[in-house]
Amino acid sequence: MTQNTPLYEGKAKVIFEGPEDGTLIQHFKDDATAFNAQKKDVISGKGILNNYISEHIMMAVGELGIPNHFISRISDREQLIRKLEIIPVEVVVRNVAAGSICPRLGLEEGSMLNNTLVEFCLKDDSLGDPIIAPEHIFTFGWATPEELEIIVEDTLRINDFLTGLFLGIGVRLIDFKLEFGRYDTEDGIEIMLADEISPDNCRLWDAETNEKMDKDRFRRDLGGLVEAYQEIARRLGVKVPQIDP
Ligand code: TMP
Ligand code: ASP
Repeated sequence: MTQNTPLYEGKAKVIFEGPEDGTLIQHFKDDATAFNAQKKDVISGKGILNNYISEHIMMAVGELGIPNHFISRISDREQLIRKLEIIPVEVVVRNVAAGSICPRLGLEEGSMLNNTLVEFCLKDDSLGDPIIAPEHIFTFGWATPEELEIIVEDTLRINDFLTGLFLGIGVRLIDFKLEFGRYDTEDGIEIMLADEISPDNCRLWDAETNEKMDKDRFRRDLGGLVEAYQEIARRLGVKVPQIDP
Protein backbone atom coordinates (compact mmCIF):
# COMPACT_ATOMS: atom_id res chain seq x y z
CA MET A 1 0.00 0.00 0.00
CA THR A 2 1.16 3.52 -0.70
CA GLN A 3 1.62 6.02 2.09
CA ASN A 4 1.81 9.16 -0.08
CA THR A 5 -0.83 11.82 -0.02
CA PRO A 6 -3.18 11.50 -2.97
CA LEU A 7 -2.53 13.68 -6.00
CA TYR A 8 -6.13 13.25 -7.11
CA GLU A 9 -9.14 11.43 -5.72
CA GLY A 10 -11.86 10.39 -8.14
CA LYS A 11 -15.13 8.61 -7.48
CA ALA A 12 -13.76 5.07 -7.83
CA LYS A 13 -9.97 5.55 -7.88
CA VAL A 14 -7.20 7.48 -6.13
CA ILE A 15 -4.01 8.59 -7.86
CA PHE A 16 -0.69 8.78 -5.97
CA GLU A 17 2.79 9.89 -7.04
CA GLY A 18 4.73 6.94 -8.51
CA PRO A 19 8.17 5.66 -7.53
CA GLU A 20 9.89 7.22 -10.57
CA ASP A 21 9.44 10.37 -12.63
CA GLY A 22 6.71 9.97 -15.18
CA THR A 23 4.85 7.31 -13.17
CA LEU A 24 1.78 7.28 -10.94
CA ILE A 25 0.02 4.72 -8.77
CA GLN A 26 -3.64 4.10 -9.52
CA HIS A 27 -5.56 2.71 -6.52
CA PHE A 28 -8.98 1.09 -7.06
CA LYS A 29 -11.53 1.82 -4.30
CA ASP A 30 -14.69 -0.11 -3.46
CA ASP A 31 -16.79 3.05 -3.81
CA ALA A 32 -19.61 2.87 -6.34
CA THR A 33 -21.35 5.99 -7.62
CA ALA A 34 -23.96 6.64 -10.27
CA PHE A 35 -25.88 9.57 -11.74
CA ASN A 36 -22.97 11.94 -11.08
CA ALA A 37 -22.51 10.65 -7.54
CA GLN A 38 -26.11 11.30 -6.48
CA LYS A 39 -26.24 7.57 -5.69
CA LYS A 40 -23.35 6.18 -3.62
CA ASP A 41 -22.36 2.97 -1.86
CA VAL A 42 -19.35 0.88 -0.95
CA ILE A 43 -19.26 -2.57 -2.52
CA SER A 44 -16.67 -4.73 -0.85
CA GLY A 45 -14.26 -6.26 -3.37
CA LYS A 46 -15.30 -4.19 -6.42
CA GLY A 47 -11.96 -2.35 -6.51
CA ILE A 48 -9.97 -5.59 -6.51
CA LEU A 49 -12.07 -7.05 -9.33
CA ASN A 50 -11.74 -3.90 -11.46
CA ASN A 51 -7.98 -3.79 -10.87
CA TYR A 52 -7.50 -7.37 -12.14
CA ILE A 53 -10.02 -7.13 -15.00
CA SER A 54 -8.65 -3.80 -16.21
CA GLU A 55 -5.07 -5.12 -16.08
CA HIS A 56 -6.10 -8.06 -18.28
CA ILE A 57 -7.86 -5.86 -20.84
CA MET A 58 -5.20 -3.12 -20.92
CA MET A 59 -2.48 -5.75 -21.51
CA ALA A 60 -4.50 -7.25 -24.38
CA VAL A 61 -5.12 -3.80 -25.89
CA GLY A 62 -1.37 -3.08 -25.56
CA GLU A 63 -0.61 -6.28 -27.48
CA LEU A 64 -2.79 -4.94 -30.30
CA GLY A 65 -0.33 -2.07 -30.53
CA ILE A 66 -2.53 0.55 -28.92
CA PRO A 67 -0.40 2.48 -26.42
CA ASN A 68 -1.88 2.76 -22.93
CA HIS A 69 -0.83 3.93 -19.50
CA PHE A 70 -0.69 0.52 -17.78
CA ILE A 71 2.80 -0.59 -16.66
CA SER A 72 2.24 -3.31 -14.03
CA ARG A 73 0.02 -4.40 -11.17
CA ILE A 74 1.58 -3.66 -7.78
CA SER A 75 -1.00 -5.12 -5.41
CA ASP A 76 -4.61 -6.26 -5.27
CA ARG A 77 -5.77 -2.65 -5.51
CA GLU A 78 -2.89 -0.82 -7.16
CA GLN A 79 -1.35 -0.43 -10.59
CA LEU A 80 1.78 1.38 -11.68
CA ILE A 81 0.82 3.61 -14.62
CA ARG A 82 2.43 6.22 -16.85
CA LYS A 83 1.75 9.83 -15.90
CA LEU A 84 -0.31 11.39 -18.67
CA GLU A 85 -1.83 14.78 -19.17
CA ILE A 86 -5.46 13.69 -19.23
CA ILE A 87 -7.58 15.04 -22.10
CA PRO A 88 -10.83 16.19 -20.45
CA VAL A 89 -13.07 14.33 -22.91
CA GLU A 90 -14.90 11.07 -22.18
CA VAL A 91 -15.24 8.94 -25.31
CA VAL A 92 -18.41 6.84 -25.22
CA VAL A 93 -18.82 3.99 -27.72
CA ARG A 94 -22.25 2.50 -28.29
CA ASN A 95 -23.09 -0.68 -30.23
CA VAL A 96 -26.58 -1.16 -28.76
CA ALA A 97 -28.90 1.48 -27.28
CA ALA A 98 -28.78 1.53 -23.48
CA GLY A 99 -28.40 4.04 -20.67
CA SER A 100 -28.54 7.78 -21.26
CA ILE A 101 -29.05 7.66 -25.04
CA CYS A 102 -32.47 5.99 -24.60
CA PRO A 103 -34.35 8.85 -22.92
CA ARG A 104 -32.25 11.43 -24.85
CA LEU A 105 -33.27 10.13 -28.29
CA GLY A 106 -36.40 8.12 -27.46
CA LEU A 107 -34.80 4.73 -28.12
CA GLU A 108 -35.75 1.41 -26.60
CA GLU A 109 -33.08 -0.28 -24.48
CA GLY A 110 -31.54 -3.13 -26.43
CA SER A 111 -32.27 -1.79 -29.91
CA MET A 112 -29.33 -2.25 -32.28
CA LEU A 113 -27.71 0.89 -33.66
CA ASN A 114 -27.18 0.95 -37.44
CA ASN A 115 -23.48 1.40 -36.84
CA THR A 116 -21.14 1.95 -33.94
CA LEU A 117 -21.71 5.39 -32.47
CA VAL A 118 -18.92 7.42 -30.86
CA GLU A 119 -20.01 10.25 -28.57
CA PHE A 120 -17.98 12.76 -26.58
CA CYS A 121 -18.69 14.21 -23.12
CA LEU A 122 -16.78 16.90 -21.30
CA LYS A 123 -15.09 15.37 -18.24
CA ASP A 124 -16.43 17.83 -15.68
CA ASP A 125 -18.53 16.50 -12.78
CA SER A 126 -19.62 19.99 -11.73
CA LEU A 127 -21.35 20.33 -15.13
CA GLY A 128 -22.62 16.71 -15.13
CA ASP A 129 -20.28 15.60 -17.97
CA PRO A 130 -22.32 17.25 -20.76
CA ILE A 131 -22.37 15.72 -24.24
CA ILE A 132 -20.26 17.79 -26.69
CA ALA A 133 -19.44 17.81 -30.41
CA PRO A 134 -15.95 17.64 -31.93
CA GLU A 135 -16.33 21.36 -32.71
CA HIS A 136 -16.49 22.10 -28.97
CA ILE A 137 -13.33 20.04 -28.45
CA PHE A 138 -11.47 22.12 -31.06
CA THR A 139 -13.00 25.50 -30.13
CA PHE A 140 -12.07 25.14 -26.46
CA GLY A 141 -8.72 23.52 -27.21
CA TRP A 142 -9.38 20.27 -25.29
CA ALA A 143 -7.76 18.33 -28.15
CA THR A 144 -6.58 19.12 -31.69
CA PRO A 145 -8.20 17.59 -34.79
CA GLU A 146 -5.07 15.44 -35.24
CA GLU A 147 -5.31 14.18 -31.64
CA LEU A 148 -9.03 13.45 -31.97
CA GLU A 149 -8.38 11.49 -35.17
CA ILE A 150 -5.95 9.21 -33.30
CA ILE A 151 -8.38 8.90 -30.37
CA VAL A 152 -11.29 7.86 -32.61
CA GLU A 153 -9.13 5.45 -34.61
CA ASP A 154 -7.84 3.78 -31.41
CA THR A 155 -11.37 3.75 -29.95
CA LEU A 156 -12.87 1.95 -32.96
CA ARG A 157 -10.05 -0.61 -32.96
CA ILE A 158 -10.58 -1.20 -29.24
CA ASN A 159 -14.31 -1.64 -29.87
CA ASP A 160 -13.73 -4.21 -32.64
CA PHE A 161 -11.25 -6.09 -30.50
CA LEU A 162 -13.30 -6.04 -27.28
CA THR A 163 -16.54 -6.95 -29.08
CA GLY A 164 -14.84 -10.13 -30.32
CA LEU A 165 -13.08 -10.83 -27.02
CA PHE A 166 -16.35 -10.61 -25.08
CA LEU A 167 -18.43 -12.51 -27.67
CA GLY A 168 -15.89 -15.32 -27.33
CA ILE A 169 -16.87 -15.63 -23.65
CA GLY A 170 -20.61 -15.29 -24.25
CA VAL A 171 -20.91 -11.58 -23.43
CA ARG A 172 -22.30 -8.72 -25.55
CA LEU A 173 -20.38 -5.45 -25.39
CA ILE A 174 -23.22 -2.92 -25.39
CA ASP A 175 -21.29 0.30 -24.73
CA PHE A 176 -18.26 1.64 -22.84
CA LYS A 177 -16.34 4.77 -21.97
CA LEU A 178 -12.66 5.53 -22.61
CA GLU A 179 -10.31 8.32 -21.58
CA PHE A 180 -7.07 9.34 -23.26
CA GLY A 181 -4.07 11.46 -22.35
CA ARG A 182 -0.80 12.89 -23.66
CA TYR A 183 2.48 11.19 -22.76
CA ASP A 184 5.71 13.08 -23.14
CA THR A 185 8.29 10.89 -24.90
CA GLU A 186 11.75 11.69 -26.28
CA ASP A 187 10.18 11.75 -29.74
CA GLY A 188 7.33 14.07 -28.76
CA ILE A 189 3.83 13.73 -27.44
CA GLU A 190 2.10 10.36 -27.79
CA ILE A 191 -1.65 9.85 -27.35
CA MET A 192 -2.31 6.99 -24.91
CA LEU A 193 -5.36 5.23 -23.54
CA ALA A 194 -5.80 6.00 -19.81
CA ASP A 195 -8.16 5.24 -16.90
CA GLU A 196 -9.57 1.68 -16.75
CA ILE A 197 -11.61 -0.77 -18.79
CA SER A 198 -13.80 -2.77 -16.42
CA PRO A 199 -17.48 -3.58 -15.79
CA ASP A 200 -17.64 -0.15 -14.09
CA ASN A 201 -17.30 1.63 -17.42
CA CYS A 202 -18.68 -0.94 -19.87
CA ARG A 203 -22.18 -2.35 -20.32
CA LEU A 204 -21.87 -6.13 -20.61
CA TRP A 205 -24.87 -8.40 -21.17
CA ASP A 206 -24.86 -12.18 -21.11
CA ALA A 207 -25.17 -13.26 -24.76
CA GLU A 208 -27.85 -15.87 -24.03
CA THR A 209 -29.99 -14.23 -21.37
CA ASN A 210 -29.15 -10.51 -21.79
CA GLU A 211 -28.57 -10.45 -18.03
CA LYS A 212 -26.63 -7.34 -16.98
CA MET A 213 -23.08 -8.10 -15.81
CA ASP A 214 -21.88 -4.53 -15.18
CA LYS A 215 -22.40 -1.44 -13.00
CA ASP A 216 -26.06 -1.21 -14.06
CA ARG A 217 -26.57 -3.84 -11.32
CA PHE A 218 -25.73 -1.05 -8.87
CA ARG A 219 -27.33 1.84 -10.83
CA ARG A 220 -30.63 -0.07 -10.97
CA ASP A 221 -30.47 -1.79 -7.57
CA LEU A 222 -30.40 -5.25 -9.14
CA GLY A 223 -27.94 -6.67 -6.55
CA GLY A 224 -25.29 -9.29 -7.28
CA LEU A 225 -22.67 -6.86 -8.59
CA VAL A 226 -19.65 -8.66 -7.12
CA GLU A 227 -20.93 -12.02 -8.40
CA ALA A 228 -21.40 -10.54 -11.90
CA TYR A 229 -17.89 -9.01 -11.97
CA GLN A 230 -16.48 -12.31 -10.66
CA GLU A 231 -18.23 -14.12 -13.50
CA ILE A 232 -16.73 -11.71 -16.06
CA ALA A 233 -13.27 -12.32 -14.54
CA ARG A 234 -13.83 -16.10 -14.54
CA ARG A 235 -14.91 -16.16 -18.20
CA LEU A 236 -11.94 -13.96 -19.18
CA GLY A 237 -9.64 -16.41 -17.39
CA VAL A 238 -8.53 -13.72 -14.92
CA LYS A 239 -7.51 -15.13 -11.53
CA VAL A 240 -8.74 -12.82 -8.77
CA PRO A 241 -8.02 -13.37 -5.07
CA GLN A 242 -10.86 -14.58 -2.88
CA ILE A 243 -13.13 -11.68 -1.91
CA ASP A 244 -14.55 -11.77 1.61
CA PRO A 245 -17.92 -10.04 1.76
P1 TMP B 1 -24.41 6.38 -20.30
O1 TMP B 1 -25.38 5.53 -21.00
O2 TMP B 1 -24.74 6.63 -18.86
O3 TMP B 1 -24.11 7.66 -21.03
O4 TMP B 1 -23.04 5.56 -20.28
C1 TMP B 1 -22.45 5.04 -21.44
C2 TMP B 1 -21.28 4.16 -21.06
O5 TMP B 1 -20.25 4.94 -20.47
C3 TMP B 1 -21.62 3.09 -20.04
O6 TMP B 1 -20.92 1.90 -20.37
C4 TMP B 1 -21.12 3.63 -18.73
C5 TMP B 1 -19.99 4.50 -19.14
N1 TMP B 1 -19.85 5.67 -18.28
C6 TMP B 1 -18.76 5.82 -17.45
O7 TMP B 1 -17.89 4.96 -17.42
N2 TMP B 1 -18.67 6.94 -16.69
C7 TMP B 1 -19.59 7.92 -16.68
O8 TMP B 1 -19.44 8.91 -15.97
C8 TMP B 1 -20.74 7.75 -17.54
C9 TMP B 1 -21.82 8.79 -17.58
C10 TMP B 1 -20.81 6.61 -18.32
N1 ASP C 1 -19.53 7.24 -12.73
C1 ASP C 1 -20.55 8.22 -12.86
C2 ASP C 1 -21.03 8.69 -11.51
O1 ASP C 1 -20.97 8.68 -10.60
C3 ASP C 1 -21.73 7.86 -13.68
C4 ASP C 1 -22.08 6.44 -13.91
O2 ASP C 1 -21.20 5.59 -14.08
O3 ASP C 1 -23.28 6.13 -13.98
O4 ASP C 1 -21.61 9.20 -10.99
